[in-house]
Amino acid sequence: MNRSVKILLILLTGVLICSLCGCNEEMMAKILGKGIIKMEPFGTTPDGKEVNLYTLKNAKGCEVKITNYGGIVISLTVPDKDGNLGDVVLGYDNLDGYIKNSPYFGALIGRYGNRIGKAKFTLDGKTYTLAANDGENHLHGGKVGFDKVVWDAKEIKESGNVGLELTYFSKDGEEGYPGNLTCTVKYLWTNKNELKIEYEATTDKTTVVNLTHHSYFNLACQGNILDHQLMMRADKFTPVDKGLIPTSDLSDVKDTPMDFTKLTAIGSRIDQDDEQLKYGLGYDHNWVLFSYTGAMRMVASVYEPTSGRVMEVYTTEPGLQFYSGNFLDGTITGKNGVVYQHRTGLCLETQHFPDSPNKPDFPSTTLKPGEKYSTTTIYKFKTK
Ligand code: GLA
Repeated sequence: MNRSVKILLILLTGVLICSLCGCNEEMMAKILGKGIIKMEPFGTTPDGKEVNLYTLKNAKGCEVKITNYGGIVISLTVPDKDGNLGDVVLGYDNLDGYIKNSPYFGALIGRYGNRIGKAKFTLDGKTYTLAANDGENHLHGGKVGFDKVVWDAKEIKESGNVGLELTYFSKDGEEGYPGNLTCTVKYLWTNKNELKIEYEATTDKTTVVNLTHHSYFNLACQGNILDHQLMMRADKFTPVDKGLIPTSDLSDVKDTPMDFTKLTAIGSRIDQDDEQLKYGLGYDHNWVLFSYTGAMRMVASVYEPTSGRVMEVYTTEPGLQFYSGNFLDGTITGKNGVVYQHRTGLCLETQHFPDSPNKPDFPSTTLKPGEKYSTTTIYKFKTK
């Protein structure tokens, strides 16, 4: 009997035993090396839309919970070096928290992630005015960005992996942006503990698009992120002005606190007397990632020494916003009654550079009718 026939027989025997002893779907899925999806109601928005919570459990028994309100990742549970499971993202237990006051916890961000200077840009000779929701600037898509809308959701099962496909139709003129934009984001939670996010969009008028994901990670599941060690494959970053709008320059990270070319503790230089750190109140900058061709490559890695957890980031994007949770200040009580103090979480937002619509030298964020916006990012979890 050859090897594959043997494996098939073992699997079939497992399935047979399972059905005879009444094993549940979860055990069955584990035996077959497949993930499972569970859907439950998660509440209703103030304008009466029902929202669901999807639990994606992979064959390793690790879970990601995602709601179709804002495409928010509510929890992401992965093992530490001793195999103990822990939730490594910040957020709330219920929909209400996200609706009332969320600094973009776990959300999908659009139509334009990060800032657009003076909340204005010009396309084909026409100037568009957006909401100024961050001082005089526009941030994360405006007052009601993609993080605050209800997406249509479809469950995905693909080669044993589970996922969720979210679709949102953003009308011409929504938040001041031109063009009807159809946007699809596919989250895939693989059996290798990878959260793969595929973003796609098309438009019927020339517009700008820059989609990202805004999870706040804490690989220790407690305390702040200052002892987390970070490496980013970037030897330049885009310096900013006081309002965190890029100056148009690309600066070398060498001999500055922005140098994360080697794994370095986030807290080791965060309080240095440095103008850029002062403007950001810590790290809140865009790094210019190496070899941008639109192909996928590993761009960053985070290591938390006590738990041994590691998160790697892969992307097709040219930029990475590293935000060290500087605006968290103890006023938010999140999941399980935990108070989110200063720098309790860090964000690694893959993106095109901030204010690209006003910066002709930056990679373009313009999307024209007939073109397809398409980017992919993976957050991969392991231990060492
Ligand atoms: C991004 C921005 C930060 C801040 C957070 C949300 O990371 O760059 O300045 O707005 O989102 O609080």
